[in-house]
Amino acid sequence: MTSLIETENIGKTYGSVIALSEVSTVVNAGEVTCVLGDNGAGKSTLIKILAGVHQHDQGSFRVEGEEIRFSSPREALDRGIATVYQDLAVVPLMSVWRNFFLGSEPTTKLGFLDRKKGKEITKKALSDMGIDLRDVEQPVGTLSGGERQCVAIARAVHFGAKVLILDEPTAALGVKQAGVVLKYVAQARDRGLGVVLITHNPHHAYPVGNRFLLLKRGRALGSYEKSEIDINELTKQMAGGAELEALEHELRGVEA
Ligand SMILES: Nc1ncnc2c1ncn2[C@@H]1O[C@H](COP(=O)(O)OP(=O)(O)O)[C@@H](O)[C@H]1O
Ligand SMILES: [Mg+2]
Repeated sequence: MTSLIETENIGKTYGSVIALSEVSTVVNAGEVTCVLGDNGAGKSTLIKILAGVHQHDQGSFRVEGEEIRFSSPREALDRGIATVYQDLAVVPLMSVWRNFFLGSEPTTKLGFLDRKKGKEITKKALSDMGIDLRDVEQPVGTLSGGERQCVAIARAVHFGAKVLILDEPTAALGVKQAGVVLKYVAQARDRGLGVVLITHNPHHAYPVGNRFLLLKRGRALGSYEKSEIDINELTKQMAGGAELEALEHELRGVEA
């Protein structure tokens, strides 16, 4: 099976800043590749390359086996790579269903906007993912952060994305909403999309992830298949491994 996305020793510098160096990973259909790391680790740089926002200047980037260098996000989208950014570019006053189509609304035979059909399609796409919004006419601004992420995921699935990239979709959410978003991440995965999930939180990544790429200061600290690592080890690696052990040692005996 050819991977949807493969990077091999990919790298990117901004002037003299090495944002990413020698990072290799894969994204397969029906799987979730998690990218973990603290601020400045290079997570956004990596996904911006995959999404066509930036270009790599080292290594190899292949989409379905073909060497690629996107020159715009549009090109990535045309290859089926959809990205949901943390600060979803939504117009708060726009209705949910108009936001769902964003310029590709269905029209009647005479070329008028087909509101009825548009609302029906949106409702169906959302309910297919198990999202029940009573009123798709309500403004996007009335949705919670978690609901917006869910609508964005349903949208990517509906419009046939092959790869879905999510940049910290659970970062600003409480436990319950984060759980709901992760449920839809799993649904997108089970529908055969390749998902790239960026997060700080190993407890969000572990349940839904097939592989875990840990970045630190632009470099891969490790890359693991799920069978190779458990949640405790992943958490430890995230916390900097040795650093955490040293801290535990220092704090021995002071626990409440
Ligand atoms: N447009 C840019 N110009 C210059 N430096 C950048 C730019 N974007 C990111 N960087 C730098 O690259 C490194 C990785 O950043 P980034 O990919 O945003 O990390 P993360 O998303 O993991 O927080 C950081 O040192 C950051 O300051
Ligand atoms: Mg980032």
